[in-house]
Amino acid sequence: MRIQMADLHAQYEAQKSEIDDALKGVLESCRFILGPNVSLLEEEIARENQARFGVGVASGTDAITLSLAACGVGQGDEVITTPFTFVATTESISQLGAVPVYVDIDLDTFNLDAALVESRITPRTKAILPVHLYGQMADMTALQGVADKHGLALVADGAQAIGAEHRGVSVGGWGSATTLSFFPTKNLGAYGDGGMVLTNREDIADKINSLRFHGSGGTYSYQDIGWCSRLDEIQAAVLRVKLRKLRDWTQARQRHAQIYTSMLEGSGIHVPRVIEGNTHVWHQYTIRLEQRDSLKEFLKAREMASAVYYPGALHLQPAYQRYGYREGDLPNAERACREVLSLPIHPDLPEGAVERVSEAILEFQKAGSSVKSP
Ligand SMILES: Cc1ncc(COP(=O)(O)O)c(C=O)c1O
Repeated sequence: MRIQMADLHAQYEAQKSEIDDALKGVLESCRFILGPNVSLLEEEIARENQARFGVGVASGTDAITLSLAACGVGQGDEVITTPFTFVATTESISQLGAVPVYVDIDLDTFNLDAALVESRITPRTKAILPVHLYGQMADMTALQGVADKHGLALVADGAQAIGAEHRGVSVGGWGSATTLSFFPTKNLGAYGDGGMVLTNREDIADKINSLRFHGSGGTYSYQDIGWCSRLDEIQAAVLRVKLRKLRDWTQARQRHAQIYTSMLEGSGIHVPRVIEGNTHVWHQYTIRLEQRDSLKEFLKAREMASAVYYPGALHLQPAYQRYGYREGDLPNAERACREVLSLPIHPDLPEGAVERVSEAILEFQKAGSSVKSP
């Protein structure tokens, strides 16, 4: 049987009757925009992730854009960020007319290297935008220190990291705001697009509440030029059902990661490193090796899926070349793009799948080393 990167059918089958009931409830209520499911989901997710406020929006991308806007980021401002992420992180900065200032990553964690951030601050810097990539939080202690010292906003892209922790505090308890994505294959996925902003700051929550609703300050009165970006009731109803399972799913991902690491460590492949004090939620289990493309083909021939997140660093993408970066400017990010490979880790993997993928990788490594050594 093929081992896949995600299995949304299995997930639906496991909760079919509850999800069908929840959908029916919304249809019968005929409340489709900003109804009770959105409010309850906002409360539930904020509480579980140690934030005072949750604000549901139309996507993870909008969650970043609106958070930056709420922190005052606009035309000509600089935002320090990572080039090794999904394009939405950078796109949100550019859509506001601000300028992404790229800082290289730490190759052990694939996250923004906090030690390099301060040297890139200028009088135009307004915010720092790290990503908690693959489900592990960036070094928020160090980043908060830099943000506080220079009076900058700290917005974290937590699209892949719902439930993750840093120093015992969950993802929503850090920075000015943290953004989530409910893209269907995320750890908590909707049946369409959706996102949320988590924050402890009432002023930011109020601003995003207004910005997501056209900048409205009351009935047909507009304080700001806003967006039309609400999480809809149908998605919220589905997410509330799925949220009940999220802890179990995360634990399954953590068990899978443990097996991968124990089987692959010492094989010559770089296994992901979890920084002390972090709780990883394993949206992806991502290894690193020079022969990445051959391994991908080797696994594919055995009906084992794998994926490259991400094959191209953002500073070198045609759309972002306007910011003047060249190949070699951010060597760790560029190297990661050549070497990373994510392995199947979702909670619905069939029994023994992680062991089988690991054994295939060890076989690949063995074959490679016997070819290399005479
Ligand atoms: C790191 C990261 N940031 C932002 C996003 C954007 O989220 P969405 O697709 O919900 O807009 C995603 C996911 O797609 C992501 O993985």
